[in-house]
Amino acid sequence: MDRFPDHFLWGASSSAFQVEGAWNEDGKGLTDADVRSFRRSAVQADSKVASDFYHHWREDIALMKELGIGMYRFSISWARIVPSGDGPVNPAGIEFYDRVIDCLLENGIQPFVTLYHFDLPYDLVVKYNGWLDRRCADAFARYAKICFKQYGDRVKYWQTINEQNLMTRVDERMNISEPDLWKADQIRAQMEYHLFLANALAVKACHELVEGGKIGPAISASCTYPLTNKPEDVWAARMNDAMKTLYCLDTYYNGRYPGYYMRYLKERSIVPQMQEGDEEILAFGRMDYIAVNYYRTLCASALPADEQHPVGMRVYRGNEVDFDLYGYCKDEKNEHLRASEYGAQIDPMGLRIVLNEYSGRYHLPLLITENGLGQEEELTPDGKIHDSSRIEYIRSHLRACMLAIEDGVDLMGYSLWSFTDLLSSHQGFRKRYGLVYVNRDETDEKDLRRIKKDSYSWYQKVIRTNGDLRI
Ligand code: BG6
Repeated sequence: MDRFPDHFLWGASSSAFQVEGAWNEDGKGLTDADVRSFRRSAVQADSKVASDFYHHWREDIALMKELGIGMYRFSISWARIVPSGDGPVNPAGIEFYDRVIDCLLENGIQPFVTLYHFDLPYDLVVKYNGWLDRRCADAFARYAKICFKQYGDRVKYWQTINEQNLMTRVDERMNISEPDLWKADQIRAQMEYHLFLANALAVKACHELVEGGKIGPAISASCTYPLTNKPEDVWAARMNDAMKTLYCLDTYYNGRYPGYYMRYLKERSIVPQMQEGDEEILAFGRMDYIAVNYYRTLCASALPADEQHPVGMRVYRGNEVDFDLYGYCKDEKNEHLRASEYGAQIDPMGLRIVLNEYSGRYHLPLLITENGLGQEEELTPDGKIHDSSRIEYIRSHLRACMLAIEDGVDLMGYSLWSFTDLLSSHQGFRKRYGLVYVNRDETDEKDLRRIKKDSYSWYQKVIRTNGDLRI
């Protein structure tokens, strides 16, 4: 195979708080992503302006059309539609996404919409402690129904929650400020349960309200290698994937917690409160496809529990996503891989592995909704960005996609992260992912001009040839 299948979708991705800006314009409510970013405003860019998509969307969509993508994966800001999370609807927010969706379709670009990408309306945090309260799941279901009714005639592909499995690992992203590790885990387990309910309620509503609608979660994929071939390390690597990713996919797919995850919740004495009738709700959560976000692979060794460190206890290292778990796994470096300047271990083979694994485990179509290289970039004196390392990164990962398709994986498409430069989920604007440079830096918004990088022209050729990777 030297080209991709005819129906293969070429795309690019973003999320609301990372590109839109206009954080309090036209009735939008504050989100927890805004609040987190404002905490760092003194040292880095925040969500107030971000890439200013809110005022540049026509220009950005024109650039998407020129690029030739057939899909754009973006998220709707819940707080633009329902500013307080579960109160009145904001007509200006509804209209904004109406215009964006119409413009995409007029330009031959299919909208692929995520309902919730790390940005919970902040009022829900204040009123309910966010996901700790079951009413948050009901609020999400209501918001999802509003979106399906409003946009479901034009948007056929939806994603419920972006990276529940990664978001819940980080206390700050869940608005957990509990210093006691056990209590924090107990809160997390309850929040996670409500997220599963929210996911299932939204999947059900989509199937009822959107004719021909397809919906699934976007997962942060993990592929973990054992540090050695000791059986304990091999098991630790499996547990690392199970406890960081597969528990989530298994629960969405089967409508109940898998045995290994229940075992952990019991060992740690943090089984969440469940209500009668929940089983039926969760049974509706099965996805139609899996949106896969893939950046890197991990490596793990065994980490035995002991008297001071009971089984299931995390090793807390601040805000990092790769925690260690006593009795399960310890995060290790892989000496065979080169890391990006921000520490992600670059590994196209890992992509082939996870695509095969998810395809074999769930027998569902897969779609890559995020994959890309974050790095620092500066314009050359003649105003260009020569990002050959990004081109190499994307090329090698597309090769892995091609191999996975040959392996029999039903891969719908590849939507890279990200279309324009945007606000990193925690590293401001200096870490850039875009095909299109946005002329601003951490503290100076400059003119926010859009400048095509070398990777933009390269990707354009790849799309035109339906995936000729010799380019
Ligand atoms: C994914 C998120 O986890 O990784 C994106 O869905 C995020 O929102 C991306 O931007 C890259 O991570 P970061 O931290 O470099 O922005």
